[in-house]
Amino acid sequence: AADTGPAVRRLADWSAADLRDLAAEYDTPLYVTDRDRVRENAARLRAAFPDADVHYAVKAHTGRAVLEVVREAGLGAECASAGEVVRALDAGFEAVQYTAVNPPAADLDVVVDRWRAGADLTVVAGARDTLDRLRERGFDGRLAVRVNPGVGAGHHEKVTTGGHAKFGVPYDRAAEVVADARADFDVVGIHAHAGSGISGEDLSAHRELVARMGELAREVGDLEFVDVGGGFGVPYREDEPPLDLPAVADATREALGAVDAQLAVEPGRYVVADAGVLLTRVNTVKPVDDAGATGAVPVVAGVDAGMTTLLRPAMYDAYHAIRNLTDDRPERPVTVAGPVCETADLFCEGRSMPSPRRGDLLAVGNAGAYGYEMASTYNSRPRPAEVVRDGDGTRLARERETIADVTALEVER
Ligand code: LLP
Repeated sequence: AADTGPAVRRLADWSAADLRDLAAEYDTPLYVTDRDRVRENAARLRAAFPDADVHYAVKAHTGRAVLEVVREAGLGAECASAGEVVRALDAGFEAVQYTAVNPPAADLDVVVDRWRAGADLTVVAGARDTLDRLRERGFDGRLAVRVNPGVGAGHHEKVTTGGHAKFGVPYDRAAEVVADARADFDVVGIHAHAGSGISGEDLSAHRELVARMGELAREVGDLEFVDVGGGFGVPYREDEPPLDLPAVADATREALGAVDAQLAVEPGRYVVADAGVLLTRVNTVKPVDDAGATGAVPVVAGVDAGMTTLLRPAMYDAYHAIRNLTDDRPERPVTVAGPVCETADLFCEGRSMPSPRRGDLLAVGNAGAYGYEMASTYNSRPRPAEVVRDGDGTRLARERETIADVTALEVER
């Protein structure tokens, strides 16, 4: 059996010496992704859901180096755009699911073209308009209907999906939409997603969603799968316990009840979050108060990564563990701030940590999920580089962007 590893990998578990070497070799800001940890996370999911379809929500980290190991681990791919579909097919995934949310015409064109060329694609449609637009393109392949289950959960209001009318057809209308779709498509499944970052406390919402989907599956009958979404949370705070995945799996099965269809789940974060760290270097230290940067006065530590590198703290007030890899000095309140001209460009505010000095190397934990993927070039700031580790070896996976890359698409008159 594949190595499932420990339930959680904390920032403290990474070797400081190794990370310092990588920063010296590849410069900062730098994403480091450990493929062995991706394998362990995938294996733990497979072990907890032995007879379910597990699709990796590739949006969490779409790098080729990650897609390859996820595919080798036996997971499928859940994609949110034509770009993700193309990247998943290029990485060799055989069965790919495309969850179309208000899909732009260009996305449908690419996906239907790939399907016509023989790719094993399942399209998840969340609106009658999407069905019509698929019909117009001559698509009559595998289809699932996305349902708005009426219940949601997640680490932040901005990532709570279930209950939002943007996603899926209303639960009360779902059976009717399935019946309508059956006339023109090979309807193989129903789908719902509660939200992202579900913790043990959110389990009742998850259970309710699954129970509703079980009920719908029994009502419409003749399905291959019931996809209850992803969203399995990981601990971002050092003292937060990991999700009890086998317990979640049991609760899922129990809530689903007897259905004549396969259970499917589609986690993203769980697969990659703790397989990645972000390395960033301190370039500025200044006291918040003019009393001087001595003693326990709070300081601002300016670093070379910012909200353009890792958006989660600015966008969701997300907590990420931060560790000083250079030295273990006495603690003081530290605000870690990026180089972007936005007040929100902070990784933490007044957090107690070893007093930083210029040149210190910091590691930001759980950067593997929704890290590089949400990076931007705002402020004309090139995106960072990424290295991947495998066994004892490390290699560059994505080059550091340059200023020339940032301006490459500009058209001159
Ligand atoms: N399935 C669907 C239909 C989804 O929309 C998502 C995430 C997933 C699966 C995977 O959810 P996960 O297992 O990764 O929680 N950028 C945010 C998260 C947005 C998630 C969007 N949808 C963050 O950094 O927290």
